[in-house]
Amino acid sequence: MTSPAGNPSDPSDAVRPLLRTRQIREFTDEPLSDDVLTAIADVARWSGSSSNQQPWRFIVLTDAPTIRRLGETGLPQTRSLATASAALVIVLPAAEDRAVRDAYDDGRVAERVLVAASLLDIGAGIAWIRSEHRQAVNELLGIPDDHLVRTVMALGHPTDAARQPKAAPGTARLPREETVFRDRWPR
Ligand SMILES: Cc1cc2nc3c(=O)[nH]c(=O)nc-3n(C[C@H](O)[C@H](O)[C@H](O)COP(=O)(O)O)c2cc1C
Repeated sequence: MTSPAGNPSDPSDAVRPLLRTRQIREFTDEPLSDDVLTAIADVARWSGSSSNQQPWRFIVLTDAPTIRRLGETGLPQTRSLATASAALVIVLPAAEDRAVRDAYDDGRVAERVLVAASLLDIGAGIAWIRSEHRQAVNELLGIPDDHLVRTVMALGHPTDAARQPKAAPGTARLPREETVFRDRWPR
């Protein structure tokens, strides 16, 4: 039996915080502290990016009416913003020739914010902005036309229900033998 924190010399225990990281889509109305929001924003801006270009800019939202309007704009993907007490908006250049590279960097930020939230014992969830809603989001947040928002990270304190596992332990991902191969593609 290992302690709840695990045995850091055991690789499986050491990476457990990453395996435990989950999407949260329902939050209480308790606000997040400025220290927590600053820590999350620092994790975001310290993410790695292609050629270290740091193409992103971030908008930290705490104004409830703005978060709710953003949530109504992109349903159903943005449903987590119906209760989020804060959000981190990832703003990227809109140039088509950078789209794949920037989407990759966007995902790196999003995943790190999920992990940071988990380490801070708060919740975070990806809210994807479909392309047809990008203009409305830009207008709501005053973002110029040469930039776009693909991802908004909903943030807050999870409700008890949201903390509950959505699947039986070990079943939320495909089995290792179906997804991880040694040395070559399986015959
Ligand atoms: C590229 C991408 C886009 C996603 N978009 C949304 C979204 O718009 N709304 C949402 O609620 N979850 C979104 N998710 C979260 C996935 O639904 C989630 O990672 C998956 O269901 C696994 O959930 P779990 O990590 O809690 O096990 C997105 C995830 C990825 C990687």
